[in-house]
Order: sequence, then structure tokens, then C-alpha cells
Amino acid sequence: MIGVTVRVPAKLNLQLAVGPRRADGYHDLVTVFHAVSLFDEVTVVPAERDGVAVSGEGADRVPGGRDNLALRAVAALRAVMPRGAACRAGVHVTITKRIPVAAGLAGGSADAAAALVACNELWGGGLSQDQLAEVAARVGSDVAFALLGGTAVGRGRGERLTPALAPATAYHWVLAFADGQLATPEVYAALDRLRAAGSAGSAGSVGGAGSGPAERLTGRKGPKGPDRAGAGDPDLDAGLMSALRSGEARLVGRALSNDLQQAALSLFPPLRKTLAAGLELGALGALVAGSGPTCVFLAASADRALDLAVSLSGAGVCRSVARVTGPVPGAVVVPAAK
Ligand code: C5P
Repeated sequence: MIGVTVRVPAKLNLQLAVGPRRADGYHDLVTVFHAVSLFDEVTVVPAERDGVAVSGEGADRVPGGRDNLALRAVAALRAVMPRGAACRAGVHVTITKRIPVAAGLAGGSADAAAALVACNELWGGGLSQDQLAEVAARVGSDVAFALLGGTAVGRGRGERLTPALAPATAYHWVLAFADGQLATPEVYAALDRLRAAGSAGSAGSVGGAGSGPAERLTGRKGPKGPDRAGAGDPDLDAGLMSALRSGEARLVGRALSNDLQQAALSLFPPLRKTLAAGLELGALGALVAGSGPTCVFLAASADRALDLAVSLSGAGVCRSVARVTGPVPGAVVVPAAK
């Protein structure tokens, strides 16, 4: 075997409920992850020493060397492999990016998950999905979900996962990529500041028909009832889960929510206009992806998603757009061409 290639999806958070800052600097979460059809590809080949090369979308902004999350994943996997195994040699990791960097779509975590799956295969490690998930959780909060894919509830830092039972509905999403980036730790810090100042509770639910776009963008009156005071323990949104069980995009659109949204908007105000534009153009729901700055819109069908994508790109409210569907599986080995 010369090398192994793994394809890995971006993620959305259909709900992202954030608790108070913990002593270790992280925040307890309840989130509904959803993997979508925007993929990076990661190839590993044996080499004298570990190294990484990145090409594609935003490649120049991906850290090289030891700071690269995929290389950290390689090292973490090597640390749990038996001594003397093939893993003692180095690997060269090639990442082909389509998931934008620092965009709220967990692209770096996806690459780390792909590197785990690829090296497990390359080294004949034979680790189970559960064992890989344990290693993944040590590498980053979103890495375990990129292994799993589909739609799943995440707890803890986001690494404790339960697959969501739902009918096999394909949802049609439009992603609006921003001209800029947001660093996840800065967005969490902004949320802590907003909460300390008493201006952010259970923040941004912007989905849903029946109220004006401006009101929906404040995120202060989501469909889940009264705001969580400041930052209590996060709860799974029963409304979203029942919408997912129904398979009705209209209901899912209404139930989307993201506690980081207000913080992301405070750091990147033009996103407000992007979200409002998508809702005016008929999206069933809109929200900031994770810590942003990508904006996510749910469309009623593939045709509506195409209309929305064309209109959004014409409206000058984002750098570019992509149409994706979800849920899709997590990291999978791409069969070698015969
Ligand atoms: O785990 P990961 O390295 O992806 O997290 C990046 C940063 O996001 C953390 O350093 C932390 O600042 C923030 N974070 C958090 N609570 C979480 C997940 C991430 O505060 N549950």
C-alpha cells in the first residue's frame, strides 16, 4: 500500500447551547451536529519524518508543522499504538481543502479526524471507531464528530456524542462564506464578556417564519421560550429534536439556534446583513455556523437552494456561496483507483 486517502465533511451546529466558562477554559455544550457535503481530502503516505502540505481553499492560512491539527492527530494516534508497530516511521500528510479555514465549519477538526482514519488504515492499527473517538476527543472538541458524521447530539466540550434518530431526510443548505475569519477562542471570550455585561443569554435563534428578519436576528426571543438567565446549564432543544424527527425542513428552519451567534455578530457586524438577506430571500431559517463567520441558510428544496445561492451571491453580502446537503457520513477511506 502506498498511501491512504480519506474524505471528511464539514459540520454545522443546528443547535449550539453554551454553558458558563469552566475552570479549564472550555465551556460545557449541548449541540446538535450535522455533517454536510463539503469535503476536505487527506492523504497519508509513509515518510522519513512527519510533515504536511496543504492546498486548496485558504491553504495559506492553515498552520504547518507541529501546530497543524492533522499532525497533532497523527502524534496522538501514534502514542496509543503498540511499540514497534509501523507507526514508528513518519508520515507525510497532504490536505486538499474545500472547507474554508476558521469559518465555523470545523475544517481543521475534520482534517484531524481524516488523519486518524487514514493512519489507522496505513499502519494497520485496527483501532475501533470508539477507540479512534477517544483519541479524537484529545485532539479537539469537534474531531470526534467528524469521525462519526450524520446528525448527532454532542455534550461536554462537544466530544460526547449520541447519534440522533431521524428519518432519512436530505436537507438543502446554502453556505455564505465571509470575507474574513473568526478565531473560535475569541468568539467564546466575546460571549463570556456579553454575558458578564448582562447582554447575552440563550442567544441566537434566527430561524423561522412569522417574525421580521430584524427581530429574528436579535436572537433574544427564540422559539424556546424565555432566555436562559446568563449562562445556566445548556439544554437540548426538544423542539429541534422533534422537528428533526418529523423530517420537515420548515420546522427545522424555525428551530435553528446558536448561543455563539450574538458574540460572532458583535465581532463581525456585517454578518447581520448577510443573515437578513437570506431570510428576505426565502430561507426557512438562518444562523451563524458555529463560531462563524460563515452564515448558513436552510432551503425548502434543491431548487430553492439554487435560487437562494444565486440571489445571495448577487446581493453582495458574502465572499462566495456553496450549496450542500446533509446529513452525510463522517470520515471515510476513498478506495484506491484500480
Ligand atoms: O477543542 P478546540 O481546540 O477545537 O477548541 C478551540 C477553542 O474553542 C478552545 O481553546 C476554547 O477557547 C473554545 N472552546 C470552548 N468550549 C468548547 C469548545 C471550544 O471554550 N466546548
